Amino acid sequence: MDKTIDRSELRKTWGGIFDDTTIFAIYRLMTRKKIKKLVSSIKEGKESLVLAADDKIAIKVYATKSSNFKRMQQYLIGDPRFAKIKSNKRSIIFAWCQKEYNNLLKARAHKVSCPKPIAFQSNVLVMEFLGKNYEAYPRLKDADIKNPKKAFDQVYENLRKLYNAGLVHADLSEYNILLGDKIYFIDFSQSVILAHPDADKFLERDIHNVCKFFSKYLTVDPVKILEKIKNDLSI
Ligand SMILES: Nc1ncnc2c1ncn2[C@@H]1O[C@H](COP(=O)(O)OP(=O)(O)O)[C@@H](O)[C@H]1O
Ligand SMILES: [Mg+2]
Repeated sequence: MDKTIDRSELRKTWGGIFDDTTIFAIYRLMTRKKIKKLVSSIKEGKESLVLAADDKIAIKVYATKSSNFKRMQQYLIGDPRFAKIKSNKRSIIFAWCQKEYNNLLKARAHKVSCPKPIAFQSNVLVMEFLGKNYEAYPRLKDADIKNPKKAFDQVYENLRKLYNAGLVHADLSEYNILLGDKIYFIDFSQSVILAHPDADKFLERDIHNVCKFFSKYLTVDPVKILEKIKNDLSI
């Protein structure tokens, strides 16, 4: 173990925010040299806390208590990658974290614009930080969209590549898309493989959500978009 990393110091600083499991996971990531320091709390998601760590690195900490485990299980069923997961809360959260890591890897391998995954430990995921000076790029919902057509085309291309990778995001909306130098998809923990019994339903929902958002700016037809994605056609 690396003597320069002080676990009790970590607990003193972050113990008010994180439980012991999380503190230990962060400590392990430090001894594994995946992260050096934590910078500050940046974003509180529905079931997670995302912090900047080092330069261009983010960590996502999945809440070990408040999460909706029943809902999570629905996204794990039918996925052979997670067939052996036990149904206790701890195992589900850890699987959830590993699932986001695996999904990001797969998406990146197919050139989807999303954060590069770096490591995971228990309920903590380490990935590329999307933003500047420790400030995350805005979500599409809050962004000043100068060129909606270009943004929509990029969203479409990412959806197509993701489907080609054999994945459906399953929680895609203006809340899980960031707009920086380009469009980025985030939040892949609930993404499912095409063999999932509800994959088609989730794809339709994803397309419906993004089309609804962009309909303020453009004429978009979710039925046509779905058909094109399924046939792997460019927009
Ligand atoms: N890789 C990243 N780089 C910068 N900010 C991020 C990154 N991932 C997530 N965020 C920020 O954290 C928020 C919550 O992350 P998200 O993955 O959507 O978690 P949740 O599952 O809790 O919704 C996002 O809305 C975004 O602002
Ligand atoms: Mg989210």
